[in-house]
Amino acid sequence: MPKSKTQRKAISAHLPPHDVKDLGLAEAGRLRIEWAENNMPVLRSIRERFAKDKPLRGHRIAACLHVTTETANLARTLEAGGASVTVCASNPLSTQDDTAAALVAEYGISTFAIKGEDSHKYYGHIIESLATRPTVTMDDGADLVTVLHSRKRDLLPDVVCGTEETTTGVLRLKSMAEEGVLEYPILAVNDAMTKHFFDNRYGTGQSTLDGIIRATNLLIAGTNVVVAGYGWCGKGVAMRARGLGAHVTVCEVDAVAALEATMDGFRVMPMSKAAREGQVFITVTGNKHVLRGEHFQRMQDGAVICNSGHFNVEIDIPALSKMAKRRQKVREFVEEYRLPDGRRLYLLADGRLVNLSSAEGHPASVMDMSFANQALGVEFMIRNHARLSKSVHGVPDVIDREVARLKLRSLNVGIDRLSSDQRTYLSSWSEGT
Ligand code: NAI
Repeated sequence: MPKSKTQRKAISAHLPPHDVKDLGLAEAGRLRIEWAENNMPVLRSIRERFAKDKPLRGHRIAACLHVTTETANLARTLEAGGASVTVCASNPLSTQDDTAAALVAEYGISTFAIKGEDSHKYYGHIIESLATRPTVTMDDGADLVTVLHSRKRDLLPDVVCGTEETTTGVLRLKSMAEEGVLEYPILAVNDAMTKHFFDNRYGTGQSTLDGIIRATNLLIAGTNVVVAGYGWCGKGVAMRARGLGAHVTVCEVDAVAALEATMDGFRVMPMSKAAREGQVFITVTGNKHVLRGEHFQRMQDGAVICNSGHFNVEIDIPALSKMAKRRQKVREFVEEYRLPDGRRLYLLADGRLVNLSSAEGHPASVMDMSFANQALGVEFMIRNHARLSKSVHGVPDVIDREVARLKLRSLNVGIDRLSSDQRTYLSSWSEGT
């Protein structure tokens, strides 16, 4: 619950450890956190139960997530469940400074995050959040887990379990588990159907276009948009770009995904060809150097380049910098690279996730489901970690169904039920033609 004025005064006298831009932004942050909460009915209902049952009591959670209003509501939910929570940023550009301030001053939650922090500060913040000796890690991209397993190994004995939010993090953790170096079980929240079907597709789809539009004020209608990657995020981005009237081309390396994009009605071609035609390029693959020197060489004057994949390696920025004879910031989040032949290429948000850097990330309504999975996932892991291997585990089907059921209820959508006759039919082999 938000604190009363008197409580807030008492809190400010005893603020938890923090490093945020400006505590004076706290009030504005609280209002935005409450606004997001209005669209997070599933998480709210979990928080109400957590407040009664305290299933996370006694645990210290280090949460390395994008510091947004939705994350603030997740942190509040975890605290209501009895955990003590520390939040740090999972990306140097995605922090909302007013949210970070509100977490500290309005909700008393220890927070280390400043929008635009450099890499040194970013990792410094991760290390500070580990100073609480967490028993549970909550990660988005696996940077926290990687620091823990490399520079802070002395803290590993305290950690019993963790969760991971995104595709790229799950891939990194699976590779750690395969090499036998992962020291505790981690739940792949990303793999829940009620996460990636919705968050990756509808959340990334809408907010990526939102980020591009806020940064550039471009008209998307009639524009040639090239989307690299037709996974869950790419499908959403391509769908929303088409919805705004763009001519959308998809580039892929996977034959099935490329075929799906073709049958969904998109033009599909290699990037070497698309590079000549595109006016806006969006990478969302989880891979590196998807856009590189050979592509920049072919691009039209004025091409806009951005990324919505987790790390800023999808665009080979060092190659672009080397090719450019001049660079200048022309708008907030827009950097112009002028090539020797006079062409200008515009890189958005330093190649970092454009939806979180120049817009506000996913709408609350979709994060409601992702973070409901996080909250129920942590509860599940705390109960079951002792019997789980030190590897990456899927979200139990029962959690997925529960999140979907609660979301449908909040949307006032009813569905049909199987009759017992139908249930028998679906599980028998004897009834044929
Ligand atoms: P996915 O695994 O469903 O799809 C990735 C697609 O990219 C695959 O179809 C793959 O074949 C394709 N791909 C790989 N290398 C490629 C290349 N060189 N050229 C063209 N296509 C290539 O992954 P998903 O869930 O779509 O996630 C993609 C990235 O977005 C990840 O880094 C993930 O962590 C991140 N993500 C970002 C979000 C945001 O808020 N911006 C939200 C959720 C995920």
